[in-house]
Amino acid sequence: MAVLVTGGAGYIGSHTAVALHEAGRDVVVIDNFANSSRKATDAVRALTADSVVVVEADLLDGEALAEVFADHDIDEVIHFAAHKAVGESVQKPLDYYRNNLGSTIGLVDAMVGAGVSRLVFSSSCTVYGQPDEIPVVETAPTGAESPYGWTKYMSEQILRDAAAALDLDVVSLRYFNPVGAHESGTLGEDPNGIPNNLVPVVMQVAVGRLEKLMVFGDDYDTPDGTAIRDYIHVVDLAEGHVAALDALANGLAGCTAINLGTGVGSSVLEVIGAAADAVGAAIPYEIVDRRAGDIEQIYARTEYAAEVLGWRSERDLAAMMRDHWNWQRKNPNGFH
Ligand code: NAD
Ligand code: UD1
Repeated sequence: MAVLVTGGAGYIGSHTAVALHEAGRDVVVIDNFANSSRKATDAVRALTADSVVVVEADLLDGEALAEVFADHDIDEVIHFAAHKAVGESVQKPLDYYRNNLGSTIGLVDAMVGAGVSRLVFSSSCTVYGQPDEIPVVETAPTGAESPYGWTKYMSEQILRDAAAALDLDVVSLRYFNPVGAHESGTLGEDPNGIPNNLVPVVMQVAVGRLEKLMVFGDDYDTPDGTAIRDYIHVVDLAEGHVAALDALANGLAGCTAINLGTGVGSSVLEVIGAAADAVGAAIPYEIVDRRAGDIEQIYARTEYAAEVLGWRSERDLAAMMRDHWNWQRKNPNGFH
């Protein structure tokens, strides 16, 4: 039996494919390479004794999807595939709704058709917006502020309804801020164009691709004035998916939303400091205005993941920066 990993050529999916292999599972990846490179799946195969099967197909292609289920003995699914750029989603909302909701609906259809009932879904802490209470707990109110965020909110709802009606068991994992890379330095994040997220920008400054980092605001109500997030090592996140599949296999039923974070909040300046330590050089930066739409601070309450999945993150900010830098240093242009 095998796990189907949609979007398994992407940043989180590729690390999860390796973690699944290490946990003894067979893996079939499906990806259309819309936001990833074949070199990422080559790296995954190199780390997994060439055992991971890679199928190039679009999840919106129902026939291709049915064929994947027909050709492989799939009994579990992790659904990463989605468009994920918040700003782009505002410009191209229909593309985001079509791709992210269409793929989720098509995937559930194909699972029901093939009699597969266990699904782990990539959700996001973006569904919390700026929570009233932090660390944020899974029962906090949810919503969204961009078409991208709405696709996560709506997918969670679609999966709740599908779980109730169609005998599916689903875990929606709400990721906080994934950073870092595989410790080999052969697998990591390779954003298209100029990145939006903090750590990829920091690392591109460190490697000389960007001149300096713009820090978006130092007048937040936080100890050093910069905004606070819960950064989580992508390998910890990958292992959280293995734990979620194990929980489903052991009888976790219905539809469950779970935070995957560390429970530790780090400010932008703290991340810059940790990155400078890893790189061994200062990261040039300039304080500029706040970025529109940014929240002040968020980090996860992690007890529910520990209770339901028996999972906790293990790697700290220093390890995240060390591994991200190792990847960036060895691959200054990513997979290109
Ligand atoms: P990514 O873009 O690196 O990976 C997504 C993969 O899905 C890509 O390889 C892309 O080619 C593929 N894909 C997209 N649409 C497809 C389709 N229709 N058919 C087949 N393949 C398709 O993104 P990531 O950072 O690895 O994120 C994975 C998931 O986690 C996404 O659902 C994302 O929304 C979610 N998430 C990411 C973050 C983050 O900060 N990276 C945070 C919270 C949630
Ligand atoms: C982003 C996404 C959010 C997603 C989350 C987790 C946006 C608007 N939001 O938010 O939907 O759930 O990632 O993946 O993209 N920063 C700088 N300079 C930079 C880049 C970032 O100062 O060049 C600051 C930001 O203002 C923020 C922090 O760094 O305070 C983290 O930013 P980022 O990595 O973009 O993550 P989120 O803001 O959490």
